[in-house]
Amino acid sequence: MNSLILQALPGRIETEEQLDELLTRPSAALVKFIKTASSPLLILGAGGKMGPTLAALAKRAAEAVNHPLDVIAVSRFNDTRAREWLGSQGVKTLSCDLLAETSLHQLPEAENVVYMVGLKFGTAQNPAATWAMNTIVPAKVCERYPGARIVALSTGNVYPLSEASRTGSVETDPLTPLGEYTNAAVGRERIFEFYSCAQNTPVTLLRLFYAVELRYGVLVDIALKVHNGEPVALANGSFNCIWQSDANEMILRALTLGASPPSVWNLCRPEVFAVRAIASRFAELFGRPPQFVGAETPTALLGNSTRICAKLGPPSVPLETMLRWIAHWVKQGGRNLGRPTHFEVRDGNY
Ligand SMILES: NC(=O)c1ccc[n+]([C@@H]2O[C@H](COP(=O)([O-])OP(=O)(O)OC[C@H]3O[C@@H](n4cnc5c(N)ncnc54)[C@H](OP(=O)(O)O)[C@@H]3O)[C@@H](O)[C@H]2O)c1
Repeated sequence: MNSLILQALPGRIETEEQLDELLTRPSAALVKFIKTASSPLLILGAGGKMGPTLAALAKRAAEAVNHPLDVIAVSRFNDTRAREWLGSQGVKTLSCDLLAETSLHQLPEAENVVYMVGLKFGTAQNPAATWAMNTIVPAKVCERYPGARIVALSTGNVYPLSEASRTGSVETDPLTPLGEYTNAAVGRERIFEFYSCAQNTPVTLLRLFYAVELRYGVLVDIALKVHNGEPVALANGSFNCIWQSDANEMILRALTLGASPPSVWNLCRPEVFAVRAIASRFAELFGRPPQFVGAETPTALLGNSTRICAKLGPPSVPLETMLRWIAHWVKQGGRNLGRPTHFEVRDGNY
């Protein structure tokens, strides 16, 4: 897979235009899949960090084979920049608050639905909104699209911390995390499972661990701390991540994996990365020493992605490439979304 991407990974990324082009460049495997997808492809919660490039990636894949696929991005679009950018990529947009009573009736029929709606931060201040978003909206979507195949994003946060010496939680492990956000995310999965079974709806649940690009992500958070001479917290001493376009490719291709009850997959690169080693590598790339606070503990939030990598093929962008791209981006003051991952949180209190 990913032969088109591998042909031309650049040494550096200088501009957001170059970054967005790279993040929306489809692989041969995605193009092959998208030819089979019926129109429209509906992407719900498309106005966030991942949705815009996911929607544009799907559109580019369809255009590569002249497949007349309408990609419709649905969100409240509080960020008007995302809406304008999507329009410029040939993606249709619909402004819609999916929690509003009759909102789902406005949406077109669709056989392919990607569910990206999420709410993570501020959970501690407003847990009711988090639960509503994570349970009521999935129920409405399942009731509106009983016959569609649905890929629903979940999160690695549904697992409790696991032994750092293991290779990460596997999909059959118990979902007993700490904190309101994480438990609401379990609720999101359970609602999809309930409707998938009740309606025979083919659903794929993807437990994503940190997507990464240059404007946000766990690697960027570590890079910024090293670059600014701030200490990097070590207590949550290891993590998983994946380059965002690799994640988006797999999310789209996971439409083929739907089942009732849902099929469930961890989504990240197959390796576990150590915070200390990553910070030390950024320190080399920046030419300054890293600062640390605390020490590694025996547990961390970790997932094992062996199954999805075997099923869809391994992700294409390796760690060292991401580190070099990010170091260059941070050094030149490239745009940051200002949405830190809080990767150091261990009590579920986001
Ligand atoms: N990015 C990661 O590293 C990561 C890691 C683990 C899991 N995930 C999961 O993957 C999914 C996508 O990630 P992301 O980073 O793109 O999330 P995100 O930045 O939080 O985007 C989700 C978007 O959903 C939209 N939304 C929220 N409430 C809505 C409503 N009532 N009606 C319509 N749209 C609504 C919001 O956009 P508007 O303001 O435009 O409505 C929001 O930006 C999320 O479900 C997240 O939990 C992501």
